[in-house]
Amino acid sequence: MPYTIAVLVGSLRSESINRRLALALEKLARGKLVFDYASLGDLPLYNDDLWQDGRAPEPVMRLKDVIGQADGVLFVTPEYNRTVPGLLVNACDWASRPYGQSSFEGKPAAAIGASVGAIGTAMAQSHLRSNMLGLGLVPMGRPEAFIHWKPDHYAEDGSISDEATKAFLQSFVDSLAAHVERLS
Ligand SMILES: Cc1cc2nc3c(=O)[nH]c(=O)nc-3n(C[C@H](O)[C@H](O)[C@H](O)COP(=O)(O)O)c2cc1C
Repeated sequence: MPYTIAVLVGSLRSESINRRLALALEKLARGKLVFDYASLGDLPLYNDDLWQDGRAPEPVMRLKDVIGQADGVLFVTPEYNRTVPGLLVNACDWASRPYGQSSFEGKPAAAIGASVGAIGTAMAQSHLRSNMLGLGLVPMGRPEAFIHWKPDHYAEDGSISDEATKAFLQSFVDSLAAHVERLS
């Protein structure tokens, strides 16, 4: 039975390379992992006042459901100004509340990200990894995946033309599946 993974992509751009990367991973993970993409663009900015009797606006409740029902969490993150984009930070803040009811608690998680820059989101992922610990997630140790984006390696349908890239990303999703299985 495949595991369900809540996928949080930290970009809203229609041409996002990180969304393209997520689609490629989804294709490689078929039969092992089912990706459930969380909608982050409709979340309000975090404001404690929006919680009323344990409920927040609908987009927040949907986000908490997607994460809460998943067996694991995958962050696919761009790097903005050498750290995690605000979109993802805001989503994590919402999902971590109310206090004591974090949707993330104890779930296996992993991060990956792509950038046109040479370090391939390494700094953003380093920050995100320490955030994950604070959120109660259990991050996968390895492989680390800092993807220096090469557009001609990835097709729009999620297929990957470069064999070395494909093998590496396959090892990433296989490791995530094993990480989720160990903690299930
Ligand atoms: C506000 C902003 C800050 C950025 N900062 C970085 C950065 O620190 N490191 C980096 O490698 N790329 C940086 N970039 C470039 C992004 O890697 C590039 O725009 C990438 O395509 C974003 O991911 P997406 O295509 O999934 O939206 C930045 C882009 C923006 C818009």
